[in-house]
Amino acid sequence: MNQSNRSWNADLYQQKHAFVFHFGADVLTLLNPKPDERILDLGCGTGELTAQIAESGAEVVGLDASPSMIAKARQSFPHLSFQEGDARNFGANQPFDALFSNATLHWVKETDQPSVLSAAFNALKPSGRFVAELGGQGNVVRILNALAKALNELGMPQPVNPNFFPSVGQYTTMLETAGFSVTLAQFFDRDTPLTDPETGLSDWIAMFRGDVLAALSDHDRQTVLANVNNQLRPTNFRDGYWFADYKRLRFIAVKPLEP
Ligand code: BEZ
Repeated sequence: MNQSNRSWNADLYQQKHAFVFHFGADVLTLLNPKPDERILDLGCGTGELTAQIAESGAEVVGLDASPSMIAKARQSFPHLSFQEGDARNFGANQPFDALFSNATLHWVKETDQPSVLSAAFNALKPSGRFVAELGGQGNVVRILNALAKALNELGMPQPVNPNFFPSVGQYTTMLETAGFSVTLAQFFDRDTPLTDPETGLSDWIAMFRGDVLAALSDHDRQTVLANVNNQLRPTNFRDGYWFADYKRLRFIAVKPLEP
C-alpha cells in the first residue's frame, strides 16, 4: 500500500485499518487468479491479499516500499515471497501474467505515475493484465475539507494532499499512453465503515494524515480532531459507525500482444 516516502505503523494498519484489505477482496474477483500464473501484488502492505491470491494456486510475489509492512507480511505469511521495492522502478527477472494493486496507486504522485505504469507494462508478459483499485476523483473529500477547515480555524497552514485521486478519463488516458488497452474502468462511491465506533474517524486521520497531526501541539491536535468529528458527525456517522467517503476507481488494463 505504500509507495511514497512515508513511514507506516504496520501493526496499527493491520489492527485498525483492516477494511483496506477486506474491501480489496472484491478486486481479487476481478483479478481471477489461476493456478500456475505468476502474479505481482504491487503495494502489498501487510500481505493479506497476497495470501488470498496464493490460495488460488498462483505463484505470487508481494512488493511494497515500506520495510515495516514487508517485515509484517513476512512474519504473518512466512511461506510467501515478499520484496521491498519502489513501484516507480521495479523490474521483473521473469515477466508476470498479472499485476494486482489495491489502495496503492493513489500514493504515487501524478508526475511519477508514468514511471509506475511503464514499469508495470514492462513487467508483464504480452496479453498480461493489470488489475487495480485506487482512490478516484473526490475521494475522502469531506474528511479532507473538514480537516482543512479545522486547521484554518486554528490559523494553521493548509495541508498538502499527498494523494493522487484521478478521474476515469485521466487515468485511462495515462494507461493508454503507457501502452495498455483498457478493457474495464469503473468509478463508484463506497462509503467505508471505520473499525472503531468511537475513534474511527480520528484513527483514520492519525493513520493517513499523521504528519499533519504530528506538527501540532497535543492541545491543538485534540482541538482539530474534535472539530473534524463535530463537522462530520451529521454526514459521516450512522448506525453507530464512522464512515470514510471513499470513491473508488477500478480498472483492468491489458498489455497488447502486438505493440
Ligand atoms: C484510500 O484508500 O482511498 C485512501 C487511504 C488513505 C488515504 C487516502 C485515501
